[in-house]
Amino acid sequence: MSADKPSLSEVIAMQIRETGPMSVATYMGLCLSHPREGYYKGADPLGAAGDFITAPEISQMFGELIGFFCVNLWQQLGQPKSFTLLELGPGRGTLMADMLRVACRAEGFRDALQLRLFETSPGLIAEQHRRLEPYEPQWINSFDKVGSGPLLVVANEFFDAMPIRQFVRTDQGWNERLVGLSDDKLAFGLSPTPIPPTTMPAALADAPPNAVFEVGFAAGEVMSRLSRLVAAQGGAILAIDYGYGRTQTGETLQGVRRHAFADVLDAPGETDLSAHVDFEALGNVARNAGLAVQPLATQGEFLSRLGINERTRALSAANPGSAKDLEAARNRLVAPDQMGDLFKVFCAASPGLQPPGLSA
Ligand SMILES: C[S@@+](CC[C@H](N)C(=O)[O-])C[C@H]1O[C@@H](n2cnc3c(N)ncnc32)[C@H](O)[C@@H]1O
Repeated sequence: MSADKPSLSEVIAMQIRETGPMSVATYMGLCLSHPREGYYKGADPLGAAGDFITAPEISQMFGELIGFFCVNLWQQLGQPKSFTLLELGPGRGTLMADMLRVACRAEGFRDALQLRLFETSPGLIAEQHRRLEPYEPQWINSFDKVGSGPLLVVANEFFDAMPIRQFVRTDQGWNERLVGLSDDKLAFGLSPTPIPPTTMPAALADAPPNAVFEVGFAAGEVMSRLSRLVAAQGGAILAIDYGYGRTQTGETLQGVRRHAFADVLDAPGETDLSAHVDFEALGNVARNAGLAVQPLATQGEFLSRLGINERTRALSAANPGSAKDLEAARNRLVAPDQMGDLFKVFCAASPGLQPPGLSA
């Protein structure tokens, strides 16, 4: 270790020595977003050379169909002369570039568009700049800067990166899982004091010993803030992520490095950490703000309803040499044993709007 630049693992160990064990959410937040050593502050994590691959990086069709989705909603909103399109965690900007290539063909869409990007990674902001400059994006670090007027929000694999807290069923009730030190190494432990039982959902009263319950307070906070804006200004929030439709127990926090699962306590800052999203909890937050929450769809259902089969055929007809690759990409995005069932599509919208692709 150099005297002026401790590794993130050392930073976390020092913090634990000073103030005691930390929640899983604090640990996850430091691992992903520490200003110097956080995972998203480093090199581009996406693609074959990185740690994982996402749907927009698999095929342009993913973004194109979401572009049609946005045009449809903009038209339902009465084609406002000015509206905000906000993407949370835009990665390399691929999704937005594919979306806007098709959406801006709709007359008036480009002139009305105010593009806002919410991103923490300096490296990815540079990539987004390169791809999206013609659309004059503005990067925002606070939702206060979203602007007035109708608001469409898009997020792919963003909410799974929001820190979660974990609670474990014990003889005493529910005790929070904490990250502490054992033999000077990061290790999981439990808070000695159980949390008040009334703070847990009633549905978990019969959870078996050692059951783990995960709570995404940060995701809920983001959803709450954006839902209130959409309720006041009109619009919709589309979030695609792996997750579940009913609040449930189960440990889903995972580490991924170089396209393989990795120990979440191993190499903090070099391992991507994520957790499945509790869409029921996010839906309750959006409903409380006054939005209509659509039935949760699988990614396979959503893309099929939006026309991925027809799009595959059209692109294949135009580029016969790419037909095999296009079919392989389509299959990867929608097949139930690939991404089709694992990834879910959540949409909360102003009452009266009918977001396409969410119901049969
Ligand atoms: C798994 S990547 C997904 C990227 C892109 N949406 C895609 O589908 O390819 C997560 C994205 O969220 C961003 N991100 C993670 N935590 C964030 C935070 N706290 N605030 C803003 N952006 C964040 C990352 O930098 C990255 O762009």
